Amino acid sequence: MRVGHVTDLHVHGHSGVSPWRFANKRLTGWANLRFHRGAIHKTSIARSVLESLAADGPDHVIVTGDLTNLALEPEFELAGQLIEALGLPPERVSVVPGNHDVYTAGSFRARRFEGFFGKHITSELSGSGAYPFVRLQDGIAVIGLSSAVPRLPFVAAGRIGRDQLAALGRVVAEPALRERFPIVLVHHPPYNAPSPLKARLEGLDDADLLEAALAPLGRGLVAHGHLHRRIHRRRGPLQVVGATSASLDSADPDRMAGYNLYEIEGGVLVRVTARVLDAPGGRFREIELPVS
Ligand SMILES: [Fe+2]
Ligand SMILES: [Fe+2]
Repeated sequence: MRVGHVTDLHVHGHSGVSPWRFANKRLTGWANLRFHRGAIHKTSIARSVLESLAADGPDHVIVTGDLTNLALEPEFELAGQLIEALGLPPERVSVVPGNHDVYTAGSFRARRFEGFFGKHITSELSGSGAYPFVRLQDGIAVIGLSSAVPRLPFVAAGRIGRDQLAALGRVVAEPALRERFPIVLVHHPPYNAPSPLKARLEGLDDADLLEAALAPLGRGLVAHGHLHRRIHRRRGPLQVVGATSASLDSADPDRMAGYNLYEIEGGVLVRVTARVLDAPGGRFREIELPVS
């Protein structure tokens, strides 16, 4: 079983969007995009990443949020087209939202992300459209969480919340999970930076509660995005692996665009590799990440 992991596509495209829709938090986001983010996040790179991943023939693809920049419909449409181009049936592509996918309170209330990606968040163990969703495929159980909540400008922190943690508690006790390798999808990493300010502005409010809720799994992979860098941590019984942004053009090899591949055999994660783009329009090289 080969699972591909892409994240933080941050596609942008605002043609046809009324200027009035930028008269809120999006104004700061638009300025960031105009003067900084747009220059380093390139949709053409995200397209190359997804083409390369499709050529690797994954059995399942996971996408851990921030598919858009400002949670606008044209961005969701474009991100959906990129994912569609993988050529996989929707039950084999699982997607969770990031903070940019609920950029405004209005987009969160309208459940815009769920409207566009409903077919990728169906659940076999709970009601579809709710989190966590659970999707069973051969030897894996994909558990999708939402850490995405709208925030004030310049705050990118996430939260799982009490209701979702309670539902997660019920999910991890399901017998169907015992014989399958669990892969947990969450946009924010389930641990915070040592700096309290950084944790408050960019981290996960209830990271400790999430780790405690996942501990009964006893094994598994937690796949996340948000940090825009490749990162691997062993946290108790769990492997926690972050992929970099799929659209990021960076001189830092840990941040340059790419994707991760996870090989699971006999209920065990046996290999973690990353494909790293050499340069925009260039080839991908493979690096191996430690498994234990
Ligand atoms: Fe991001
Ligand atoms: Fe994020």
